[in-house]
Amino acid sequence: MTSNVKSHDPDHCAALEDSDLLLLQNKAWSQGMVARDPKFFSRLSETQKPKFLWIGCSDSRVAADTITGTVPGQIFVHRNIANVVVHSDLNLLSVLTYAVEHLEVEHVIVCGHHGCGGVKAAMSGKDFGMLNKWLLHIKDSYGQNYEALQAMTDERAREDRLCELHAIRQVHNLAKTAIIQRAWQERKGPFLHAWVYDLRDGILQPQITIAPDHKVQAPFRFDFED
Ligand code: CO
Repeated sequence: MTSNVKSHDPDHCAALEDSDLLLLQNKAWSQGMVARDPKFFSRLSETQKPKFLWIGCSDSRVAADTITGTVPGQIFVHRNIANVVVHSDLNLLSVLTYAVEHLEVEHVIVCGHHGCGGVKAAMSGKDFGMLNKWLLHIKDSYGQNYEALQAMTDERAREDRLCELHAIRQVHNLAKTAIIQRAWQERKGPFLHAWVYDLRDGILQPQITIAPDHKVQAPFRFDFED
């Protein structure tokens, strides 16, 4: 515990106890992992060779490792609000480049989820200030499917469907990058997947898979010389 804690402030202490609890749980987790697999950390500290890149929502309920029953070392992760794949996002492009070109992941999964706050916000028509710029990427998915979605009378079903359509659209955005197209040409990988996680039952629902032999539409297709 740090020495400059305002011990007279009960709220402050309670908040600090929350973070202390995480550290305590971490010790227990670490000990449990070593008990099950004594070489787990010494092996992982040398290198990582994950087969998967996960591009998911930042939502606290959709934790990639936990919901897939995997452990550290298996999934390389990028998360942002509403699992957006946008070609001007230097963070996403850096993660994608490293995962595809250096780690040579075999699968890239874009995982949306039903009940996504970002999707709901984008559908609401409300002004969210600075967030509007990010939500516009979701609104693009909404606009592209607007008539079909408006024809759905149940509001929750409409939101769920946009979560699915949005995840599918982001996977197509991945296919438009030179990073993915070059990897497809050079090593016949990775596969691209759109999945949607249902908060109500914890089940991942596959939407589409794009295989490395996919023919990208002409305006978005790169012709590599080498
Ligand atoms: Co979300």
